[in-house]
Amino acid sequence: MREPVLSAREVRVEFPVRASAHSRAGLQADPAAGLRAGRRSGRARAVDGVNLDLYPGEIVALVGESGCGKTTLARTLLGLERPAAGEVRYDGQPLRYSARALKAYRRRVQLVLQDPAGSLSPRHTVYEAVAEGLRIHGASALGGFGDEPAKVADALSRAGLRPPERFFPRYPRELSGGQRQRVVIAGALVLDPQVIVADEPVASLDASVRGEILALLLRQRDEAGLCALVVTHDLGLAWNIADRVAVMYLGRIVETGPAEAILGSPAHPYTRALLSVLPEAAASGREAVLLSGEPPDPARIPPGCRFHVRCPLAASGRVDAARCQADDLPVLAGGTATQVACHYPA
Ligand SMILES: Nc1ncnc2c1ncn2[C@@H]1O[C@H](COP(=O)(O)OP(=O)(O)OP(=O)(O)O)[C@@H](O)[C@H]1O
Ligand SMILES: [Mg+2]
Repeated sequence: MREPVLSAREVRVEFPVRASAHSRAGLQADPAAGLRAGRRSGRARAVDGVNLDLYPGEIVALVGESGCGKTTLARTLLGLERPAAGEVRYDGQPLRYSARALKAYRRRVQLVLQDPAGSLSPRHTVYEAVAEGLRIHGASALGGFGDEPAKVADALSRAGLRPPERFFPRYPRELSGGQRQRVVIAGALVLDPQVIVADEPVASLDASVRGEILALLLRQRDEAGLCALVVTHDLGLAWNIADRVAVMYLGRIVETGPAEAILGSPAHPYTRALLSVLPEAAASGREAVLLSGEPPDPARIPPGCRFHVRCPLAASGRVDAARCQADDLPVLAGGTATQVACHYPA
């Protein structure tokens, strides 16, 4: 059995909640309101018990609507956020949070952020931007190459910026959005990481550039055995790139498995709703499922199935909604198997 490279084990990440004057007044006037809205605490559980495994040479898409905890989980996997409970494991060992251990870790596990303009310094040339990681990690990061320019050139050309030397002296403002994103990716690839965690890596790019950047990740997977977690709210993108998909809702993974299984025949009403609003679904004549109710709040997680308040199936009368409201669902186990957290999966 293969071992995962990177895992989240029962990870919970909390943030303190500052109640607004408005909501405090509301609670004083009607103290039961908070309880009715769900379990109320002074902390928001942005990630509320997640098991996720990344295996060598696979791309996993983490999908879900805004605020469900994707970035928080990604940052926790990178060691940028410390879990309140559970642990992150890398190469079979719990992640250590000393500055020294994290530095070594960040050479092997790289974060790629969405906003290429924001993650590049306007005062650094392309060469300096890509060489920065090598300089931080010192001579050992140069590996067999021996010299920095060769390593930078190799990373740029792997990221599709060719001939690389032509890009060396250029500044971010002299590049297109797609080229900037490639520079960010080259900055990650230059350290030959084992894992890339990419948070919305193509969200700001147009369709053709998007396709090229995704093809680049797929090529790195096939040629270098790279493993990647791609965070996106775009299920179409997940279709195109992922071997596996994990669907997140209000801090939990609610459905996961091979991409064809999850996106081809989703069992969770939430996944079904997300898929139903894709243009492909509209073209096939299926009706879009619009989710009703307030956007979920990680400081007020409903009891029972956390999706029941917005669930079209629970509202349909075709299932015993009392069970959805009352019975908690187990946390999904991680691994590669198809799993769904729903009392009435399709
Ligand atoms: N530093 C923080 N302090 C307090 N709350 C936070 C913090 N970071 C995130 N949150 C809250 O945690 C929840 C999850 O946020 P997160 O950024 O992980 O969502 P996301 O799934 O990445 O959303 P998006 O698709 O919009 O990027 C949100 O309710 C957010 O407001
Ligand atoms: Mg995010």
